[in-house]
Amino acid sequence: MDPEVKCDIKGIEEAANILLRSKHAIAFTGAGISTESGIPDFRGPQGLWKQYSPEIATIDYFLQHPREFWLFYRVRMSTIFTAKPNRAHRALAELERMGVIKAVITQNVDGLHQAAGSKNVIELHGTMKRAVCMACGRVYPIDVVIRKIDSGQIPPLCDECGGVLKPDVVLFGEPVKDFDRARELALMSDAVLVIGSSLSVYPAAYIPIFVKEMGGKVIIINLEPTELDYIADVIIRCRAGDAMELLLEKIVSAKNREVP
Ligand code: APR
Repeated sequence: MDPEVKCDIKGIEEAANILLRSKHAIAFTGAGISTESGIPDFRGPQGLWKQYSPEIATIDYFLQHPREFWLFYRVRMSTIFTAKPNRAHRALAELERMGVIKAVITQNVDGLHQAAGSKNVIELHGTMKRAVCMACGRVYPIDVVIRKIDSGQIPPLCDECGGVLKPDVVLFGEPVKDFDRARELALMSDAVLVIGSSLSVYPAAYIPIFVKEMGGKVIIINLEPTELDYIADVIIRCRAGDAMELLLEKIVSAKNREVP
């Protein structure tokens, strides 16, 4: 799909109408919302899993090869820590500030929603901002961990007990975080705005399914088809930054027309 393709304005209008009519709308985001910030996604044409086997992101691989895992992760961390929120993150934060979006449930670990100003964010797959000792549970800010790695301690170890540190992200084979809270939010929502996810990883991908099952509307913004296009009420197939900017414009101008 040509990333320069123009957003379908009819889809944007339909999505805006759904969100304007909704009482409790949430967003569900994936790696595709951050590609315009320079962070590669996993399954898109330049996705990470085209270059590496996803086995490297399993808990078994981490436990057996912590050094190789951290060497791989250190490179990814460099990309993520220099990245800035893009137009899609900022528009989403603005929709939350306006009260149109009540919460963001994300699979991303890059912290860019919070950096853009989103307040109510659930990070199902954890965060790259911390690491945790596998032995005693002590938590370390990631800059401390980066210093350990860059001074040659790979894998980085706990100062207290010498245990191996692991980034506080959910690897394949581990339970996701805060799923009960995310499910509750989804079950009380009448609309979900899905941005930049192939919707192929569970249990995270249940979030839009829960909204649909409760009679809510599903809007999908994605460059390529997703695994759950068949449950979508509106599909907008263009770049997240373009789509979110247009969607915000439509919603702001509709709100400005509202009689006070
Ligand atoms: N605008 C819109 N869509 C985009 C953009 C963009 N600028 N860039 C990429 N996409 C789309 C891709 O076409 C792809 O379909 O975003 C989707 C990203 O899908 P994945 O790479 O599968 O990312 P995600 O759904 O977040 O993956 C879920 O898989 O490996 C794991 O733990 C990792 O949290 C991740 C999980």
